[in-house]
Amino acid sequence: MKVNELIKRDTSARFGLIGTGFMGKAHAIALRTVGTVFADVPAPVLSLLVDANARKAAEDAAAWGFARSGDDWKTVCNDPDIDVVNICTPNHLHKEMALAAAAAGKHIWCEKPLGLTATEAREIWQAAEQAGVRTSMGFNYSCNPLLMLTRQMIAAGELGDVYNFRGCYQEDYLSDPKAPFSWRCLRAQGGSGALNDLGTHLINMAEFLLGPIDTLFGKLKTVYTHRPDPASGKLRAVENEDIAQVLLTFANSCVGTMEISRIATGRKCGLTFEIHGTKGSVVFDQERMNELRIYRTDEAAGRRGHCTILAGPEHPDYANFCPAPGHGLGINDLKIIEARNLLRSIKEDTPIFSDFRNGWRVQSIVEAVEQSHQQQEWIDVREGSTPT
Ligand SMILES: NC(=O)c1ccc[n+]([C@@H]2O[C@H](COP(=O)([O-])OP(=O)(O)OC[C@H]3O[C@@H](n4cnc5c(N)ncnc54)[C@H](O)[C@@H]3O)[C@@H](O)[C@H]2O)c1
Repeated sequence: MKVNELIKRDTSARFGLIGTGFMGKAHAIALRTVGTVFADVPAPVLSLLVDANARKAAEDAAAWGFARSGDDWKTVCNDPDIDVVNICTPNHLHKEMALAAAAAGKHIWCEKPLGLTATEAREIWQAAEQAGVRTSMGFNYSCNPLLMLTRQMIAAGELGDVYNFRGCYQEDYLSDPKAPFSWRCLRAQGGSGALNDLGTHLINMAEFLLGPIDTLFGKLKTVYTHRPDPASGKLRAVENEDIAQVLLTFANSCVGTMEISRIATGRKCGLTFEIHGTKGSVVFDQERMNELRIYRTDEAAGRRGHCTILAGPEHPDYANFCPAPGHGLGINDLKIIEARNLLRSIKEDTPIFSDFRNGWRVQSIVEAVEQSHQQQEWIDVREGSTPT
């Protein structure tokens, strides 16, 4: 019997998770909790946890509730008792792992970016398509109930004709020049820098809210060109950008900008957007992720101003966590919603927005920003024009 058929009968999907770092733990929390939060999907089974560090895999498997552990990721893909391969390893490993999972007929939940290049991402997306498996990217921020509300408001015309988008994703995890060199600074392991780490979320979010980007102009800058390498104790050359700035046009005739930085001193999770339309605007900041500021032009003169909406049970998915407004969700709750979206996609055999096709689309836009920076010209990213 094929994996798809098994799960469609409402049996629990059996997960094999690769990687026990920052994201590995976030995915494990989501997998353990999603069946409690959401009644519309069967709770998954935590079957196998794998990490290159066998001892850590064994300790975390015991602590996180996985039945088994190991140090060879291929066992996850080859195991007939695994339905979903969950990839939470550094960027350069996503391709080999995802291709092996697709070849074995497993559904796949992969952290961003899908591949190091648009070509890699396309290969992975198409392999999953051909295998007929369901896929999800780790674009957790778009799972925020207030982001879903914003999307609904724009689609319903509540902001009127939307003409301007200003998005930022700024963090400061590398703002200290002495912050150590890591795989994130290497092209062969991280790919692009701030763009792959942070920009991928912002691109996903911009198209989730406003629809396709048409053209862009990008500028990149590496401010700290060398960092101390913990392995050698010497300075090592950084191979990708600290900052990306992008001008945008959208298919809906909106224009916009994106600013992305991993050295934005003082910013911890500065994923923000401001969207303006003929009837009003919305303002969001992930550091205050339970608040959405809304301005409406139809308020009486002298009464106009931004009002702050607090996330509550009227907004998509919130009530599954909590019946009371204003009590707030956290980042791990967004991962739980992401896990539910994948489980429902598997159960109903329908794609979700942030699937591998979207993972490829985001990667093609990342690559277009790099191309624009190199060529100093506008790049057309309409489908059919994007780099492959
Ligand atoms: N969605 C988000 O908000 C978000 C946030 C952070 C990171 N990420 C993404 O998640 C991925 C992982 O990042 P992280 O911050 O968790 O990294 P991390 O360094 O904290 O963890 C990576 C883990 O992978 C393991 N690993 C490395 N090589 C392996 C191999 N060959 N086989 C098995 N395990 C191996 C490491 O031992 C480590 O436990 C990256 O692709 C990153 O871009 C996403």
